[in-house]
Amino acid sequence: MSQAPCPIVVLISGNGSNLQALIDQSADGGYVICGVISNKPDAYGLERAARAGIPTRVIRHQDFPDRESFDRQLMAQIDSFAPDLVVLAGFMRILSAAFVNHYAGSVLNIHPSLLPAYRGTHTHERVLEAGEKEHGVSVHFVTEELDGGPVVLQAVVPVLPGDTRDGLAARVAQQEHRIYPRAVSLFAAGRLRMQGNEAWLDGERLGASGLREYAS
Ligand code: GAR
Repeated sequence: MSQAPCPIVVLISGNGSNLQALIDQSADGGYVICGVISNKPDAYGLERAARAGIPTRVIRHQDFPDRESFDRQLMAQIDSFAPDLVVLAGFMRILSAAFVNHYAGSVLNIHPSLLPAYRGTHTHERVLEAGEKEHGVSVHFVTEELDGGPVVLQAVVPVLPGDTRDGLAARVAQQEHRIYPRAVSLFAAGRLRMQGNEAWLDGERLGASGLREYAS
């Protein structure tokens, strides 16, 4: 007997290309996107979700006096979908301790760098300025430490001579769209878990870089 697909909620703030990859690969991925929530009303990802027939919600952070009250509303909306996993896909908000604790071990994020290097924003520019030979993307569990939770998967992208910010960003995005649905599928299949601030796959503890792959 086949297992019921794992219900997930995706949080976005913008374009939603990772959301699109998750939508496109959901049929074979063992998960179902039951809701998409944006903190920005004009996020293009909302259109992508609507086109796929997925319910959407907008919660404008400006409408709340502080992070805690915004997060309380966010949690209420997420919980109304009763997901097993919350997937941050370009959701550009720092989450409160209350949020992170409420969903401990059940929130994934994607970040455009080889964590723990280059946390924060403008990663492509900073990598080019530093003259790095390698860049990439990480999927990690979310903890209270910003961009600091245990890494699950990483894809390494070479920095090419003469690379521009946009060229490099496009090659990183290609890898994002490949590895994020895979990480969600692994969680959906019950193969991926966070325990004791570490990521575990198939009962084995993953190292600091998670599963690391090199883009061809
Ligand atoms: C992606 O590159 C994702 O890695 C990044 O935002 C972009 C969203 O693109 N996330 C972060 O920087 C989180 N710290 P998308 O809206 O097209 O999926």
